[in-house]
Amino acid sequence: MRTLDMSSYRPYRSMGETCLTRPIREKTVRWVQPQPRRSQDGRFVGRPLARADIEAAAELWRHAYPELYGSSHDFMLYPEDYESRMILVETWPEDSLTKPGCMLVVEEIATGRLAAASFMTKFDRNLQIEWTFAGTHPEYRRLGLMGLLGGMMAWMSKVSGAEYLTTFLETWHTITQAETLKMGKGWQLAGIFPGNFTRWAKDQQEYRACEIYMYRFINDGDKYATKPSEWQLHPELQRVWQALADFNRRLAERE
Ligand SMILES: CC(C)(COP(=O)(O)OP(=O)(O)OC[C@H]1O[C@@H](n2cnc3c(N)ncnc32)[C@H](O)[C@@H]1OP(=O)(O)O)[C@@H](O)C(=O)NCCC(=O)NCCS
Repeated sequence: MRTLDMSSYRPYRSMGETCLTRPIREKTVRWVQPQPRRSQDGRFVGRPLARADIEAAAELWRHAYPELYGSSHDFMLYPEDYESRMILVETWPEDSLTKPGCMLVVEEIATGRLAAASFMTKFDRNLQIEWTFAGTHPEYRRLGLMGLLGGMMAWMSKVSGAEYLTTFLETWHTITQAETLKMGKGWQLAGIFPGNFTRWAKDQQEYRACEIYMYRFINDGDKYATKPSEWQLHPELQRVWQALADFNRRLAERE
């Protein structure tokens, strides 16, 4: 880690009074290899991406989430972009700290077809993992495959050393919204971002889509987060925060 002598500088305002602080240090989020996990009926297995899956995985995402075409995440649709960005089973020990992306896939055992996949992105110095995407092939939906991957992602996040998780939900996708809100389990609404990402419409057309952002703390991350009592919010923004906090409280009560 690089260090500077910071003794001649001052923060704009003294913060961190309502939470713990800690020494700045080397921070890493580690991908820990998950054990393959069978679906309840034994028909599918969830596992990390292997080199031999890459072509099929890119094709799966084109079916499951074609809206990514032309966006800053469209590397998901191009097999040639995978190895530089994602950890693979074959190189797991070398890549567990260095590769920013981790894809999990669900294989139908009898046919060897990839039926679903998920993608996470890590941000080491922020001790953060973004649950970036989930996609199930249209022919395999409603079989609990996202549930299978969600369990594996939760386990990997917990043991990674990350303390802050984020995700975003498409406004055209009411199922994931309902599921995330129903699931709760510590996820909280952060905000709604109109026009956040470009998304494919069809043919060669695009628009800017609105995303719903959620976050949650794990591994004591909340202990290092400033509390509202030390935030300096403009009164108008204070009202927005109050509405969000009330919503998130109701969400937590439902769990
Ligand atoms: C969202 C998506 C990943 C769900 O995948 P899936 O494998 O069908 O999900 P699961 O079978 O694990 O279902 C998870 C839950 O959602 C519910 N669900 C899934 N599809 C549903 C539908 N069409 N209508 C109502 N509920 C639905 C399931 O009943 C289940 O709830 P339960 O746990 O209470 O039984 C899939 O629809 C998809 O790939 N959509 C396109 C890509 C996308 O939009 N990704 C997410 C963007 S935010």
